[in-house]
Amino acid sequence: MEPVSEIDFGLNLRPDAPLLPGEAFHRELARIREAQRLAPVLFAGAVMRLITRFDDLDAAFKDDEQLPAGPTYKMTIEPCQGVTFESVDGPEHHTLRDLSTRALRKRPIARFSERQLPSIANAVIDRFAADGEADLVAQFSAVYPFLVFAQRLGLPLDEAERFKDWAFDILSYPLDNAAGLRAAAAVTAYTEPVLAERRACPLDDLLSSMTTAQKAGRSLRDEEVLAHVRALFSAGATTSFHGIGNTLYAVLSQEGALERLRERPERIPAAVDEMLRWEPPLGLLPRLVPRDAEVAGERVPAGSLLLFGIASANRDPRAYSNPDRFDFERPRQRLLTFGFGSHYCPGSHLARAQSAVALQALIARLPGLRLLDPEAARPWGTVMRGPPRLPVAWDRS
Ligand code: HEM
Repeated sequence: MEPVSEIDFGLNLRPDAPLLPGEAFHRELARIREAQRLAPVLFAGAVMRLITRFDDLDAAFKDDEQLPAGPTYKMTIEPCQGVTFESVDGPEHHTLRDLSTRALRKRPIARFSERQLPSIANAVIDRFAADGEADLVAQFSAVYPFLVFAQRLGLPLDEAERFKDWAFDILSYPLDNAAGLRAAAAVTAYTEPVLAERRACPLDDLLSSMTTAQKAGRSLRDEEVLAHVRALFSAGATTSFHGIGNTLYAVLSQEGALERLRERPERIPAAVDEMLRWEPPLGLLPRLVPRDAEVAGERVPAGSLLLFGIASANRDPRAYSNPDRFDFERPRQRLLTFGFGSHYCPGSHLARAQSAVALQALIARLPGLRLLDPEAARPWGTVMRGPPRLPVAWDRS
């Protein structure tokens, strides 16, 4: 297969040479999408097929028969994180997912969002509000979602400054086995004593809900709870970090967006959703094809690797009108940013809520907030994508 682009979409790891910053990524995806539904592209030196269009990706996410998610994660993350619902399919997936994610459902997250998120956001802003300028990546999005995550899980905050490294290091497995295993061991050691406390005395947090949940006489053993904590750390905390960064980049870089939200804060949830479409923190998602399959009208042999083109589908003009425009007044439409079907992201309510509360708090606390260097703030990367820096200033009263 001859790749349709010179770009290697898997060489994603060098902040000193950012890959496809800002619209460069979306222009390249648009070119490929218009040429082919299933396009051979380079990914870390190998050729993989990229699903480029919304309808094909929608069908692929739903296709548990031909493209189950489990085999990919069994190969990539299970040796580091342990067996979780991410790496299994079918009824076992359903049971483990139900037992481990109850505290992430819509209603508990609405409660958490109202009672706890604003004070976490405000406490982080307190650290720099008097300064008149900040880098909102280093000082806000590298801190806030990790505190949120710890609070929802029920973990103590004494080592909170290490959470970001743990989350990204776990995710670096199998590219960097040693870092992945070290971080997984650190999360386990940090969580184990709290788990024992929650077994004895459950509270209103995710860890407690994992210890008390029962389904058809089944409940989670300690090792199963710890594996799910490791999995949530890597899947949830890293995406949240970039999700907050991209929300802030979108609103700060698009002319007039911040002012409109200041006037109409009820549009903040729509602005978060529009960011999730326009600049998704997970732009491309690798998927192993476990048996011969038919994908986007082509036969794909067992053992191939696909790339689910989330960022490409999100700007497919067949699905969204004027897709390159960041426009939170557009009618709300379905998104593939959180996947679809049985492995749909269980953290979507938390992700949306924490971004909305972050925007609300920053707008309320920092009058005249403005981006100082939009070029330097452009999100970069392909699989994980977010801004390297968000240098901002505001008016001090
Ligand atoms: C903006 C932020 C987020 C994005 C863009 C995102 C994206 C996704 C996507 C695309 C999937 C589907 C993966 C697949 O089909 O292979 C997924 C699954 C998952 N996400 Fe998220 N996610 C986000 C936030 C979170 C949060 C906050 C949590 C946890 C607190 C979380 C936990 C998970 C888990 C555990 C899975 C696996 C689900 C399964 O296998 O059934 N994510 N996410």
